[in-house]
Amino acid sequence: MLLYEGKAKRVFNTETDGVYRIEYKDEVTAGNGEKHDFLTGKGRLNNLISADIFEYMAAHGIDSHFVERISETEQLVRAVDIIPLEVVVRNFAAGSIVKRLGLASHQPLDPPLVEFFYKNDDLGDPILTDDHVLMLGLATTEEIKALKAAALKINSVLSRMMAEMELSLIDFKIEFGKGQDGNIVLADEISPDTCRIVDMETKENFDKDVYRNSTGSLLDTYTAFYNKMEAIK
Ligand code: C5P
Repeated sequence: MLLYEGKAKRVFNTETDGVYRIEYKDEVTAGNGEKHDFLTGKGRLNNLISADIFEYMAAHGIDSHFVERISETEQLVRAVDIIPLEVVVRNFAAGSIVKRLGLASHQPLDPPLVEFFYKNDDLGDPILTDDHVLMLGLATTEEIKALKAAALKINSVLSRMMAEMELSLIDFKIEFGKGQDGNIVLADEISPDTCRIVDMETKENFDKDVYRNSTGSLLDTYTAFYNKMEAIK
């Protein structure tokens, strides 16, 4: 049974209690739906990449909702209720923070910065302070602390993986869910849709910015990223 349909994924119930099936779609959007396309093969790439990243995370001590990839476009995950928070970690300034705070593009942010955004399309995903998160009842003080610590740990592991691929992790967005046991776990997806990644040397983008800024082929870029991942396995 279809439980949820988002811009890039569908989530289904399965016959196994506590397990969902996620189907990655061939759809791509940017600017909260302003740009919208169907790209045959995009769902496959995101599914393959996201599964590999979750497996890399698990091998480096980071638990997630990921259970197993069951086809080119589908994976099984633990059933969680997604917390409507987009947790963004930034190692270098790019994207919305450059516009919001007038920072120089690619200026290092040391220590890395963690930001919360409200996952709400109607409101345009506004940035939230910790007090907003508390006021909206999205997380407790302890949970906010745990989310930030988890986000920074994920940043360390993901940055190391990218470095092995001779890439630099500029920033990324993650989401967390609450399992049936009440524990908070990394969920959703991690892929070039949700990260900004550039070549260490050439600074060429290996992420969705090529689609957002119409600077290249998304499918070619994601294929090149996937090949780099395969090469470090
Ligand atoms: O747009 P902004 O600069 O805040 O994005 C920061 C990071 O979060 C980028 O890597 C972007 O791909 C990711 N992001 C996302 N989904 C959103 C907003 C941002 O994956 N809705």
